[in-house]
Amino acid sequence: MAGNRKIVITIDGPAGAGKSTVGRLLAERLGYLYMDTGAMYRAVAVLARDRSRENPLDDALLTEICGGLDLHMPSDNRGMRLVVNGDDLTEKIREPEISALASAVSAKAVVRRRLAEIQRQLGAAGGIVAEGRDMGTVVFPQAEVKFFLDARPEVRGERRHRELAAKGEKATLVEVSEQLIARDRNDQVRELAPLKPAADAILVDSTDLGAKEVVELMVRLIGERGVEGS
Ligand code: DC
Repeated sequence: MAGNRKIVITIDGPAGAGKSTVGRLLAERLGYLYMDTGAMYRAVAVLARDRSRENPLDDALLTEICGGLDLHMPSDNRGMRLVVNGDDLTEKIREPEISALASAVSAKAVVRRRLAEIQRQLGAAGGIVAEGRDMGTVVFPQAEVKFFLDARPEVRGERRHRELAAKGEKATLVEVSEQLIARDRNDQVRELAPLKPAADAILVDSTDLGAKEVVELMVRLIGERGVEGS
């Protein structure tokens, strides 16, 4: 494979496995673009909730939202931002109630179709680390390197709980862990693009590894395949 050609690298896996942190660091290290596709599903969830608290999963509503979706991920001195239809939703998409709604919204065909289209456009030129649930299986089945990042559920729950506590959220470890496991289950059993490793994915377990160690491991595995960064 490929000298220093810029490739597509996918990272899929359940919540709390460390995909975002690792994906961002890996992209920085390689001089690649980082694409957080969970943020896109979260953005659709925010728009749907803000339009209809009673029925945010209404098909007609989601069709309308996806039809007019204008989504950008620019970077500034605060890091990557998520700008949707001109509004900066970076903080709003991390509200706890949005996690479950994003998972529900992500089971809808109209949403998956539109977001996969945007994701493929962003990844068309290569040089991208794409992170989510179906990057290696559905959106970029031809990706040169695919990772499936996992960790024991207790550890994933603890990580998510720490993140939320740091933001001042009051939910207990048990609550956070239960919500995380319920969301993974939802993402695994849905009909469309369920969460699962691609047949050719490299499985990486981050249970006993810090983010930097995972990135080192990934860089080594990518190098073994003869692919370099910029
Ligand atoms: O990675 P995250 O927790 O921000 O993702 C939020 C939800 O979005 C997740 O529960 C499932 C959905 N999702 C998806 O279905 N496909 C992706 N590629 C990324 C996220």
